[in-house]
Amino acid sequence: MAVNAERFLEDLHRLRQFGAAGVGKGVVRPAYSMADVEARKWLAGRMSEAGLTVQMDPVGNLFGLAEGRSLLMGSHSDSQPEGGWLDGALGVVAALEVARSSDRPVSVVSFEDEEGRFGVTTGSAIWSGHLLLDQADPLTDHAGIPFAEARQAVAHMAGEFVDPSRFSGFVEMHIEQGPTLDAEDEQIGVVTDIVGIRDMRITFEGRQNHAGTTPMHLRRDAFRALTAFSTEIDARFRNVVTPRTVWTIGHVSLHPNASSIVPGRAVFSMQWRDGDSDRLARMEEIIRTTAQEIAASRGLTVEFGPMLGLEPVAMDTKLRDALQTGAERIAPGKWRNLPSGALHDATNVARLMPVAMLFVPSIGGISHAFDEDTDEADLVAGLRVLDEAVAKMG
Ligand code: GLV
Ligand code: MN
Ligand code: MN
Repeated sequence: MAVNAERFLEDLHRLRQFGAAGVGKGVVRPAYSMADVEARKWLAGRMSEAGLTVQMDPVGNLFGLAEGRSLLMGSHSDSQPEGGWLDGALGVVAALEVARSSDRPVSVVSFEDEEGRFGVTTGSAIWSGHLLLDQADPLTDHAGIPFAEARQAVAHMAGEFVDPSRFSGFVEMHIEQGPTLDAEDEQIGVVTDIVGIRDMRITFEGRQNHAGTTPMHLRRDAFRALTAFSTEIDARFRNVVTPRTVWTIGHVSLHPNASSIVPGRAVFSMQWRDGDSDRLARMEEIIRTTAQEIAASRGLTVEFGPMLGLEPVAMDTKLRDALQTGAERIAPGKWRNLPSGALHDATNVARLMPVAMLFVPSIGGISHAFDEDTDEADLVAGLRVLDEAVAKMG
């Protein structure tokens, strides 16, 4: 049976309704939110209708299992605090459509908290054994809610962890989330490898005080320490990084966050990514040293939270070959091999079985934003490549 492009697009638009927000096709569906749980219930129903056996594990990873040994396909259906309709959702819905139409057994998964409300690709990190449940449970989100508490939102649906040995490999379709395919007017990307990441929470503790009476030279201002840190690491990274290396301070929380108070505490996220683990380690050294020096020179203290991370991984060459052959059939001359600068559940799953990934373009290279989008013709081309490739995967 051929894949049904109309049914696939309909399901994709239906999934978008869970947590629909903002302009255009925006979505707010963070892990364990009501929208996320409702979306998982809907997906479970779709899996059942496709003849798959539904099993959710204790952290909310949702599987639709084919009988016997099967190929696993999917991605995640949680979103960033402000996200688009395709990041993750595309891979889950494409997997569902392939499972419904393929002659060979295909299981479907929607991993939980790929977007890292509690860390980095939390659900697949736990399933793969990279992160122990006992280590994950005390992790907190930016509001201070522990993972152990948040995952209770799926407890009524949760069963055992799924045994990974039932799967022969994993294929994840995703939007590129970067500018390459769109800029080159290409339809398909076959992923070569996925970068590594490090993510850590840092706290500068200074002295909360009156913003009118405290002379500048007597302040122990946590926000100023943070801005000095940000400028200084840029300078110190210069001889270490490459044009592909990236680093981000994406979340900042000032205490007490008031116009007339010198901030006593700054808590912020520090994240960095690169394809080379040694470079990630050198950057960590610079981050820790710089934060300590800045704190000491300004009369503050600094504290580092647990460091989470994933190593760079290469995709399996046999699965990649099948995707390349499919790409050449469906989009001749309009595809390329490319690395992924975004993280994916495939990184964790690579610990367990061979993995491969397929990208379709992101319009304007925009993602992790409400206006993330992809031409529907490209979405369907990606689905067809998957379908072709799965038929060839042994
Ligand atoms: C995953 O969404 C990432 O941050 O790359
Ligand atoms: Mn994603
Ligand atoms: Mn994402």
